[in-house]
Amino acid sequence: MSEKIRFDDRVVVITGAGAGLGRSHALDFASRGAKVVVNDLGGGIHGEGQGSEAADLVVAEITAAGGEAVANYDSVENGEAIIRTALDNFDRVDVVVNNAGILRDSSFAKMTDEDWDLIYRVHALGAYKITKAAWPVMQQQGYGRIVNTTSAAGIYGNFGQANYSFVKRGLIGFTNTLALEGAKKGITANTIAPVAGSRLTETILPEEVLKVLKPELVTPLVVRLCAQQNEESGALFEVGAGWVAKLRWERTRGALFDPNAELTAEAVDAAWDQIGDFTDAEHPASVGDAFKVVYANLGIKF
Ligand SMILES: NC(=O)c1ccc[n+]([C@@H]2O[C@H](COP(=O)([O-])OP(=O)(O)OC[C@H]3O[C@@H](n4cnc5c(N)ncnc54)[C@H](O)[C@@H]3O)[C@@H](O)[C@H]2O)c1
Repeated sequence: MSEKIRFDDRVVVITGAGAGLGRSHALDFASRGAKVVVNDLGGGIHGEGQGSEAADLVVAEITAAGGEAVANYDSVENGEAIIRTALDNFDRVDVVVNNAGILRDSSFAKMTDEDWDLIYRVHALGAYKITKAAWPVMQQQGYGRIVNTTSAAGIYGNFGQANYSFVKRGLIGFTNTLALEGAKKGITANTIAPVAGSRLTETILPEEVLKVLKPELVTPLVVRLCAQQNEESGALFEVGAGWVAKLRWERTRGALFDPNAELTAEAVDAAWDQIGDFTDAEHPASVGDAFKVVYANLGIKF
């Protein structure tokens, strides 16, 4: 797939497209002929307030460059309304990039129910609502491209981000299931874990790093994953600073015990080194792969 990637007659919905990564995605898609729904609630980084300016400015930028875009100011929690904006204006939905995000960081000991719920509502419920509204449209078209935005915190965990890591990890499982369920209908779904200078990271990263960590270094992967020619699905990538890498699970060969005999904690402890030994590690890529060893140990053909 090395020809020019174009989105003529394609309708692209990007959430949180009024700033940072979403804005960069919106501008790139529009420059490639897409009709873009620029969704942004226009609030603060902790989920406070709202406004139309953020989305309007990006729509104005796209229009000034000769592109086509429409603004939507709903919270992603109202995903149906965002997809309705796409259908009312452009009749289709070909691409959904779930990107909107906020932070409510605090140590788990100090985290409030509100911190937990708000992060859940924006990142998890929001991605669900939009995808749920777009899904029947994509199924009917026999075509769709979905990119969900996770975070290194979701993959690895991060101090002070129990709420955020919970939902960001959830998005990976969500996306992988969408990839399986969408395959027969021409729908691909992938997850990216970006790193970029934005208002979400401006208080965390040093200024000289922020300056060079441009969102424009993340967007090309998103565009590539949403191309008509894209066949990648159910994959997870880390991306930023001019680096793009794919991740996979790695599993030790593990220790096998007789399933018909009593298994004790002491026996598990005695095999601890073997359980954690990554020599000749496996790379299961599906539940089927994951369960093969289970069935084999039971002596049942899988
Ligand atoms: N910047 C990074 O290094 C980084 C790292 C990991 C993950 N991410 C993820 O990337 C995504 C984009 O983040 P960013 O860094 O560009 O931040 P950003 O704050 O610059 O942009 C996020 C946008 O989402 C909008 N938004 C927030 N809540 C919304 C809601 N309920 N409905 C609609 N829009 C809403 C905001 O108004 C904002 O314009 C987020 O999901 C974030 O968690 C970013």
